[in-house]
Amino acid sequence: MDDAKEEIRARLPVEDVVGQYIELKRAGRSLKGRSPWGVDKTPSFMVSPEKGIWHDFSANKGGDIFAFVMEVEGISFREALEKLAAQAGVELTKYGGGDKAVAERKRRVKEVLELSCRFYQFCLTKNEKACRYAFEKRGMSKGTVEEFRIGYAPNTGKALIQFLTKRGYKTQEMEAAGLLNRYGGDLFRGRMMVPFIDTNGVIGYTARILGQGEPKYLNTPETILFNKGRFVFGLAQAKEAIRQSGFVVIVEGNMDVISSHQAGVKEAVATSGTAMTENHLKILSRLTDDVRLAYDGDVAGVKATERAIMMAGDLGVNLSVISDYHGAKDPDELIQKDPGLWQEAVKQCRPAVDWLLGKYQENLDLSSGLGKREYSDVAMRLLRFVADPVERKHYEKQVARELDCEVEDLRAKKIDMGEKKRLKKLELEASSDVLAGVRDNLQAIVMHGGVTGVKGVELPEDETKKAELEMIFETRYKRWDKGMLEGEAKALLSRYKVEMSRQEVEQLTMRLAELEEREGEEAEQESAEILRRIMVLKKQGN
Ligand code: UTP
Ligand code: MN
Repeated sequence: MDDAKEEIRARLPVEDVVGQYIELKRAGRSLKGRSPWGVDKTPSFMVSPEKGIWHDFSANKGGDIFAFVMEVEGISFREALEKLAAQAGVELTKYGGGDKAVAERKRRVKEVLELSCRFYQFCLTKNEKACRYAFEKRGMSKGTVEEFRIGYAPNTGKALIQFLTKRGYKTQEMEAAGLLNRYGGDLFRGRMMVPFIDTNGVIGYTARILGQGEPKYLNTPETILFNKGRFVFGLAQAKEAIRQSGFVVIVEGNMDVISSHQAGVKEAVATSGTAMTENHLKILSRLTDDVRLAYDGDVAGVKATERAIMMAGDLGVNLSVISDYHGAKDPDELIQKDPGLWQEAVKQCRPAVDWLLGKYQENLDLSSGLGKREYSDVAMRLLRFVADPVERKHYEKQVARELDCEVEDLRAKKIDMGEKKRLKKLELEASSDVLAGVRDNLQAIVMHGGVTGVKGVELPEDETKKAELEMIFETRYKRWDKGMLEGEAKALLSRYKVEMSRQEVEQLTMRLAELEEREGEEAEQESAEILRRIMVLKKQGN
C-alpha cells in the first residue's frame, strides 16, 4: 500500500492535483492560491512542489495530495487513493500482497454468486409451485423473470452447497458470499430468489417466501460485495431508461421495481424499503436531478420523504412524490389492477415539500392557535432544508397565507434544540481548526527553530507532516531570531493548553446536555464524573 502511495505521488505533482481545484500562482519556490474552503481574504493557500505538500494557512489544514483530495471532495482515504490511482494510471491491485489477496477473494465470491444465481434460475424451471407463484400469483412474464434473473431456492437444506462444492468452491467462499446460515447449511430454502445485480453482476439476494410466513423476505447479509447503504435495486436494469427520460422513480419494494419495469415504467429502482441513504441519493443524482418518490403515505413514508428533503438540498436534486395509488397498497398492487394507472401516477407527481406540508395539515386544526403553532413548527423545520432562497420564500409565503400571519412571524419563531446542537457542533469543529493551527506553529518552531525546553507537545514522526511543518516555518518564522522564537513558543504553548481544555469543556458540556435528557443511575453517575472533570479543567485554566 505504501508503495502504491509512493508511486502515485511520484507521478502526480502536488501542484497539478491542487491546480484542478484552485488557481495557483508562483511565489518564489512555492505556489500560492486562495483557500478552497473560502475563508481567506488574501491568498493563504501554499503549495510546495519540492516537498509535494500543501498547507492552508487560513483553514489550518495541510498534507499531501491524498489529504487534499479527501478534504476537498469529502471522501475517505480509500476513495481518494482510488481516484488518484486512476489519474496516475497506477494499478492498485498490483501493490501489496494484502490487496491482491482481497481482489482474488472477491473474484471467487463473485463466481460463487454468479453460479448460485444460475442454479436458482434452473431450480425455478423444475419447481411447479414456485413457477405458479412467480408467473401466476406475482404475474411476472417470462421476459421479466429472465431479465431480473428470478429463481427458486430448493427446500432441501444443502442443495446449493452440494452444487457449489462439486464445482470446487470452499465453504468459506460460500460463507463470504452470504449464502450460508449459521449452522453451515443453505441460508435460502423454499423461497423465490431475487438477485441483487450491479455492474459486477450478482452481489446478493432478497428471497421471498411463497405465500404467508415469517420473515416475508430474507436478505443477504452485508458482504465484501454487498453494501446495503450503497446498493440501489434495479439500477443495472433502469440506468438507460433513467438517462433517456431524465427522471428516476424510487419505490419501497423490490417487487414494485420488477412490476413497474414490466408495466413499462423502467425508471423504477428501490433502496431497501424506506431506508434511503445519502449515498443512494448521490448515486442517483449523477444520472438525473428529477427524483420521484413512490413511498406509502404512512408515517414511515413521511419520515423517509423528510429525510430525503434534508439530503436533497446539497445535491441539487428536485424531489417529488407520487402518491395516487387509487386505493392500492403499493405500486405492485396498482399495476396488477391496471398498468395504465401506474404510468399516469408517475406523470402526476407533486413537489415533495408541497406534499409534506399537506400531510402536516391533515391531523391539525389550522383554525386554532395551537394548530397554527404546531403546523408552523413542523413547516419551518422542514423549510430550513430548502436550499434555494427563492424557493424557500415561496413556501414561507404559502405557509404564512395558510396561517393568516406574516413571513416575519414565522421567521421569528425560536430555533429548536436540534438546530442549536448542530450549530454547536460546527463551532466545535471550527475551534478544533484553531487548535490545529496553534499546534502546527508550535511544532514548526520546536522542530526547525532550534527552540528547546518546550514540554507537553508531541512531535510528528510522519514525513509528510514534517515537510508541512518545514514549510510553515519557512513561511512564517524564517527571519525570526532565537529570542523571538522562544517567546512565541511560550505564548503558543499556553494558548495551546487553554484551547485544549476549552475544547474538552465544550465537549463535556455537550455530553452533559445529552445526559440530561436521559434517566437512570448510569446517566447520573456519568454526569457527576463529567462535572468533576469540568471543575478540574476550569481551575487549571485560571
Ligand atoms: P413490504 O412488506 O411492503 O413488501 O416491505 P412488498 O414489497 O410489498 O412485498 P410483497 O409485495 O408482499 O412481496 C417493503 C420492503 O421492505 C423490505 C423489502 O425490501 C420489501 O421490499 N422487507 C419487508 C424485508 O426486507 N423483510 C421483510 O420481511 C419485509
Ligand atoms: Mn407489495
